[in-house]
Amino acid sequence: MNNLACEFLRTDFGHEIYDSWYLEHARHNFEAPEFVEKHFPFYEKALLLSKDDRILEAGCGIGSYSREFARRGYHVVGMDLSPNFLAEAKNIMHRENLEIEFILGDYNEMRFEDKFSVIFFEGSFFYRSKEGLVSLLSRIHKALTPNGRLYFVHANQSIKKQRPPMANWSEIKKNVFVLQSQEYSESDDGSRCSWLKIDLETQKHYRCDYFVKCLSPDKLKDCLVEAGFMDFHFYKKRRLVDFQPEDDGFSVVAKK
Ligand SMILES: C[S@@+](CC[C@H](N)C(=O)[O-])C[C@H]1O[C@@H](n2cnc3c(N)ncnc32)[C@H](O)[C@@H]1O
Repeated sequence: MNNLACEFLRTDFGHEIYDSWYLEHARHNFEAPEFVEKHFPFYEKALLLSKDDRILEAGCGIGSYSREFARRGYHVVGMDLSPNFLAEAKNIMHRENLEIEFILGDYNEMRFEDKFSVIFFEGSFFYRSKEGLVSLLSRIHKALTPNGRLYFVHANQSIKKQRPPMANWSEIKKNVFVLQSQEYSESDDGSRCSWLKIDLETQKHYRCDYFVKCLSPDKLKDCLVEAGFMDFHFYKKRRLVDFQPEDDGFSVVAKK
């Protein structure tokens, strides 16, 4: 596990806050089946999916997208950093009688060669520096088979810059509070996200912080080219329409 991953999830609050926050309190952040299903016509067309594809879902969480790929007869492998999310993904998969391979791992460290025809990220494409992004894209490029496709959603930097900082308190169970905050930093070109959990029963508190960079669409294009992707398209988020500068984010399809 490299330092970037440690920074993301393996701090002392680590799984404790992040995973329980998502699994118990903010489960709605893992996309609902109706939301996932609604966008499949877009994925199928934009990525020219075929039943021969071998798909890697990177940052699969509890496997919402992997399950929909499997239901539709695609071969999919789900990868995530969190053993807790993967345990939940496997429980649901067994309940639904599906067959999906889930692997525990940091996508920043993937070492596959010519292995997947599609690498798919939904709400899980994070990088902390331009160098980190080029390194990730280069690993993805290597992992893809010839004509393989990469898919991810990316925020629009200029819209992010306009968003005011946000902070929300929630009582996740009796006497246990979580403060979640997010703030965009112009000087670092990215957002700092943090969770502070305070347990009034045990008098303990736990904290998690991580930084996610957000490059402009033009800089992102430069990084794609540097990593070897010459053929790519920026769509409106999950729609077969071109991205416009006023959109809050975009879907990227890049071909090897
Ligand atoms: C907001 S969740 C989205 C999960 C899923 N794609 C969905 O939309 O339901 C982001 C996921 O990315 C995973 N993740 C973040 N960084 C990762 C990394 N470097 N390697 C593998 N998984 C990562 C997190 O553990 C988390 O499950």
